[in-house]
Amino acid sequence: MRESRLWFWHILSAIVIVFLLGAHMGTMHMNTILNSLGLGSADPVDSVEVFRRSASPVFLVAYIVLLGSALFHGLYGLRSMLFELSLSKSVEKTIGGLCAFAGFALFGYGTYVAIVVYRMHGVQP
Ligand code: HEM
Ligand code: HEM
Repeated sequence: MRESRLWFWHILSAIVIVFLLGAHMGTMHMNTILNSLGLGSADPVDSVEVFRRSASPVFLVAYIVLLGSALFHGLYGLRSMLFELSLSKSVEKTIGGLCAFAGFALFGYGTYVAIVVYRMHGVQP
């Protein structure tokens, strides 16, 4: 029951990643096309641009949701791959605990950074 619930979240997180990572990669790498449509910026990784996006509540929410989805999806996927090695129950428990710890720690740190940068309200060029 617990495994099928986690697997459901794994698939749901993959769907979220398709959309949010698609938008993220589009923002980062399709600036030439976006510029011709009057959207995007000349250099999306220029610090002024990064801070301008980071000051938006929409981007803040998107960063945190993508961060959580990618961490859960990647770490649950890694755990599933390791569980296929027919390890003992105690080793499986340790792997599960380490993945959960890494996920929560990285999610906490990434969320903290996103909120701190959001509250800076951009930088001057
Ligand atoms: C377009 C985005 C993505 C889609 C649609 C997607 C979809 C999937 C699906 C359908 C599975 C198999 C689930 C199952 O039935 O067990 C899977 C497994 C996995 N995914 Fe993703 N994924 C995406 C992005 C990512 C990313 C960004 C990462 C890394 C952070 C990742 C890491 C993994 C891992 C480690 C597995 C387990 C592989 C295995 O069991 O052999 N995926 N993904
Ligand atoms: C070459 C590819 C990539 C580039 C150039 C890139 C660039 C960036 C930049 C500049 C930011 C800061 C925010 C912003 O400017 O909008 C950012 C944030 C972020 N990126 Fe990427 N990225 C890439 C790939 C990825 C991938 C593959 C993932 C996930 C699987 C990802 C997940 C994230 C997340 C979750 C954040 C927000 C992190 C936080 O605020 O704690 N990125 N990225």
